[in-house]
Amino acid sequence: MYIDTHAHLDFDSFDNDRDAVIQRAIENKISTIITIGTNLESSRKAVKYADNYASIYAAVGIHPSDCAEAAEQDYSEIEKLAQHEKVIAIGEIGLDYYRMYTDKETQKKAFKKQIALARKLKLPVIVHNRESQQDVLDMMIAENAAEVSGVLHSFTGTMEFLEQVLKTDFYLSYTGGVTFKNSTTDELIINTPVERMLLETDSPFITPEPFRGKRNEPSYILHTARRIADLKGIKLEELAAITSANARHLFALPE
Ligand code: NI
Repeated sequence: MYIDTHAHLDFDSFDNDRDAVIQRAIENKISTIITIGTNLESSRKAVKYADNYASIYAAVGIHPSDCAEAAEQDYSEIEKLAQHEKVIAIGEIGLDYYRMYTDKETQKKAFKKQIALARKLKLPVIVHNRESQQDVLDMMIAENAAEVSGVLHSFTGTMEFLEQVLKTDFYLSYTGGVTFKNSTTDELIINTPVERMLLETDSPFITPEPFRGKRNEPSYILHTARRIADLKGIKLEELAAITSANARHLFALPE
């Protein structure tokens, strides 16, 4: 069984067949999907799906690309949503210096505020970084995210950065990008202990081969897992078992 620790099931590319997508995931041995909010509205939808489907859990938060539009009130609403029993993390939060929809200071304030919220509610953090890796890690350390732990999602970067992250207790997750011919993550995966790894799709984005170019969905996680198992030289079942145990541990999911 697999756990897709990062999907955006609220995105409108799933509007026509969301039920079928969730059903296909179950048929393809994905026992659990964590659907991740990116703003208040999207977080509300994530909680709604978690309410409607036994296999779905939710994370709520304001994404760095959405924090420019977020009002103060949105953060208190996020806090209320986070009390729901199937909300298992604060996310997606972090820093994005690639898209830069808002200035670094605004992004950092939102990130800091939401790490504090996670600590208050004793929930782990699901963290986005794009061309911001050092600031993200520095802030996670400075704001004591270690108290609740968390995951650096869609992990990429240099070997030096990997070494820094491995000195912390945070988890790392890899997406379908690992299956691309021009993938830059092979060496990172080889050097990431499976005990620190989570699997994710980041659906509807970053679709693995052989479906690259199409919409991504949770059932495609198998293709990412197969590539990672090959790189690690372990059996697919072993990778699935260990990464699922990691996810259950980090997010306090039931067995
Ligand atoms: Ni995401």
